[in-house]
Amino acid sequence: MSLYVKDICKFLENIAPLQLAEPQDNNGLQIGSFFNPVFGILLTIDVSKDVISYASEKNLNLIISHHPLIYKPLSNIIQDEYKGKLIYSIIKKNLNLISWHTPLDKISDGVSEAFIKALNLEGSDFILKEKNENFGLGRVVYLKKSIKLKDLVEKIKNLINNWVMVVGDLETEIDSFGFCGGSGAFLKDELKKLRINTLITSDVKYHYAKEAHEEGFNFIIIDHGISESFVLPFLKLKIQEFLKTHNINIPIEILKNESPYKIFVYKRED
Ligand SMILES: [Fe+2]
Repeated sequence: MSLYVKDICKFLENIAPLQLAEPQDNNGLQIGSFFNPVFGILLTIDVSKDVISYASEKNLNLIISHHPLIYKPLSNIIQDEYKGKLIYSIIKKNLNLISWHTPLDKISDGVSEAFIKALNLEGSDFILKEKNENFGLGRVVYLKKSIKLKDLVEKIKNLINNWVMVVGDLETEIDSFGFCGGSGAFLKDELKKLRINTLITSDVKYHYAKEAHEEGFNFIIIDHGISESFVLPFLKLKIQEFLKTHNINIPIEILKNESPYKIFVYKRED
């Protein structure tokens, strides 16, 4: 049996329905044809030059990205501009691109749960529930034993093997925390309602950090792409199961996300 792009769209719709998408979001087939056969799949958080080259070299002609390459409506596609160049290159290399974004954030075993599982912990409630209580954003974790904030930071550092920024007193004891993959700083007040004062997330702006610092709320801040990347192995497994039941044998790979940031701390001699 051959596999077509439309089969993967249908499969993704089954695990993370499009009706969960945020209103401004853009999900589904972005470039290609529903009727193109799929020879191999590349999973990634972002679409980049490297992702496109890798997919083309390895003949993985379907890229599935978490972040949509085409998010806001385009008014032009110009080869001299960054996004235009990527779109051209995908078309010229005969690749297909599907993006599946906020629905993957909101399912029970989605982006946030995947990170928490990787920490060997278990998520409890969503931080922000949808009308249908089986879906929502972020996850609350209640620890069996309280730990110091610095020990949680250490666990995260070891897991992601990358930079971590912290707002808060490292010696504070915590018995619960929230996690939201991607830009989840807005969930601070939801967590406070639950009397939880720690959130692991990405992209925390200065004013949020400053406010948190004043209120004794802790932020553990990590790279956005890395915070979401733990969903890719889950997605790979799900697709593999799907292919197996249909007797289809094609390669599926994950391209690891690199943080674009490098953080240097200078100690000034006064
Ligand atoms: Fe994201």
